Parts: sequence; structure tokens; C-alpha cells
Amino acid sequence: MCKKAFFSSHPSVFPIRRKSAGKKQELHFDDFFGVMAGLGFEEALIHRIDRKCNTANGHMQHVAEYTRVICSIMGYDPEQTHRISCAALLHDIGKLEIPESILFDPGRLNEEAFAQIRFHSPLGSQILSQWDGPVFQLAAEVALQHHERIDGSGYLGLRREEISLPAKIVAVADVFDALTAERPYKQSWDFDTAFSYIQKNRDIHFDAKVVEKFVRNRAAIHQVYHAIHTGT
Ligand SMILES: [Fe+2]
Repeated sequence: MCKKAFFSSHPSVFPIRRKSAGKKQELHFDDFFGVMAGLGFEEALIHRIDRKCNTANGHMQHVAEYTRVICSIMGYDPEQTHRISCAALLHDIGKLEIPESILFDPGRLNEEAFAQIRFHSPLGSQILSQWDGPVFQLAAEVALQHHERIDGSGYLGLRREEISLPAKIVAVADVFDALTAERPYKQSWDFDTAFSYIQKNRDIHFDAKVVEKFVRNRAAIHQVYHAIHTGT
């Protein structure tokens, strides 16, 4: 599918809110919209993915921000950090094709519905593979692998070195933000409880080195968490 065809089949139905009053908007990268425009993305697409993926607006940007901080801690240079953060912004793009009746279902999903949800990873990768360039290649890889677990019990069953480091980083960022956010089916976890969950799942769900850096830099992670949850 070419880019034009993709956008025409996914019309932008959500309003653009570059500088809306919503407090969570303040956290975004200063140049977030400029970057996405530079990459050829429509602003509304990101809002649409976000709206579709979560009732709590901002998850995509939150994951990108946690990813940016973790990448810096891991020693990535600014350009690599920027690319991985952009990939993080698009990790759930495949959910555009999942019915909202499934995504927002507060009850227990049956096997068929869960299979549809799992499909958002390869589908997102397929969508992102339609574009050329290193950011899109990286984003396609992250979209495909962000639900993998070190022990091989993730969506595709990849394990350890079979999973790319950017995908391992986004996995931590994604889960941490999901745990600390309220969802239709759960209350938000506080910072300490979510932080402990990441720590306890070191070398089970999450890469040990990523968790080690994450844990050692608690203050930097808490700064992002605080900004998300207070708008300061
Ligand atoms: Fe996902």
C-alpha cells in the first residue's frame, strides 16, 4: 500500500490539537509535531492512533518520552535516541485496524478477540514497512517486537537476542506507562508499585540490562512520570 492509499483508507477524523489546554499535551517533545510532519506524517494520525489505542489520551507520547529517557541512559547518541523515540510513537499503529469494541472491552477477552489484538504487532510492522528510510525500518521492527518477552512467552515467541534492543526498551516504556495509567479494565498503579513490577520482571519479561539502567536512574524516570501525571 502506498502512503497516499494508506491515508485515504484511514481518514483523519480527530481534530488537531497542537497546543490544546489538555495538561498532558505539555509533555510532548518540543518539536514533536515538526518531527512527524518532517517524516511525512499527518498530525491527526498520531491522535487517531492514540485515541484508538487508549481511552487515556497521550499513551503514544508518554511511551516515546519514557523511551527517550531510557535511550539516553543506555548511552544512545541524540540522533539514535530521536529515531527510537519516533519509532516508539508509532508502536501501536496496527491497532488502527482493531475494532474499538475489542480494544475498549472492559471484560475478559475470548481467544478470537485476543488473537485480533495480538495481530496489531505484525500489522503495524506491515503498515510501517510501506515507507522507506531508517526511521520507518526501525519503527516497523519495534511495532513487530514490542510485545516480545525475554523468556519467549510474548506474541511471536521471540526470545533474548532475537529481540532488538530498541524493541526491548520500548517494551519497558510501554508497560510502565500502561501500568501507571487508568484503563477501562483497571485502576492506575502508583509509581513505586509499577517500578517494582518492572524490577521483578527483569530477565523474565524485560531485558536485564535495560531494567538495570531503568532502576539505577529512578529519578529520571520519576521526572517523566511526574510530568505526565501533574502536567508540570
Ligand atoms: Fe502494542
